[in-house]
Amino acid sequence: MRRQWSRADSGAGVSLAIADQVTGQAIGSIVLMLRPQPGVVGFGYWVIPSMRGRGIATRAVMLASAWALDVAGIERVEAWVEPDNRASQRVLAAAGFAQEGVLRSFLAFPGRRADAVVFSRIRNGPGVSSLARPPSR
Ligand SMILES: CC(C)(COP(=O)(O)OP(=O)(O)OC[C@H]1O[C@@H](n2cnc3c(N)ncnc32)[C@H](O)[C@@H]1OP(=O)(O)O)[C@@H](O)C(=O)NCCC(=O)NCCS
Repeated sequence: MRRQWSRADSGAGVSLAIADQVTGQAIGSIVLMLRPQPGVVGFGYWVIPSMRGRGIATRAVMLASAWALDVAGIERVEAWVEPDNRASQRVLAAAGFAQEGVLRSFLAFPGRRADAVVFSRIRNGPGVSSLARPPSR
């Protein structure tokens, strides 16, 4: 929690809780991190296992990207996703992100590296209908 809260203070980005609309209980998180490139923000997000598959991440990504692009003055929001994370890729496609390509051996995890599929939405970019279709399951 301390690490999440410190992001806004340090200027690194913003960590938000995803809350249940009725109970207000925290059921996930969405993090917007400033990239080194001006006007670019990267997204990371998760939803607790018992609440997955209900469109929660899709709605959170839609709301946060609309806020970033339409209110916060960000020009590009992007996400880096592992190739086998189909659920996350479907979330981004449903939220109007375009799939741009694959950065090989881009992500570093303890003891392993992975490719990253790059997705983005840009300010005044094309709407959902004109973007690539979500990957099939
Ligand atoms: C990825 C994650 C955030 C999705 O959260 P969620 O609230 O369940 O997402 P949604 O309900 O909005 O949408 C999930 C989509 O993935 C699909 N999906 C779920 N599991 C899947 C799987 N194993 N294979 C393919 N698609 C899958 C769902 O059917 C849905 O797509 P659809 O609406 O086209 O049917 C959640 O699974 C999670 O927290 N995973 C662990 C952390 C993570 O991977 N974060 C993203 C890092 S880039």
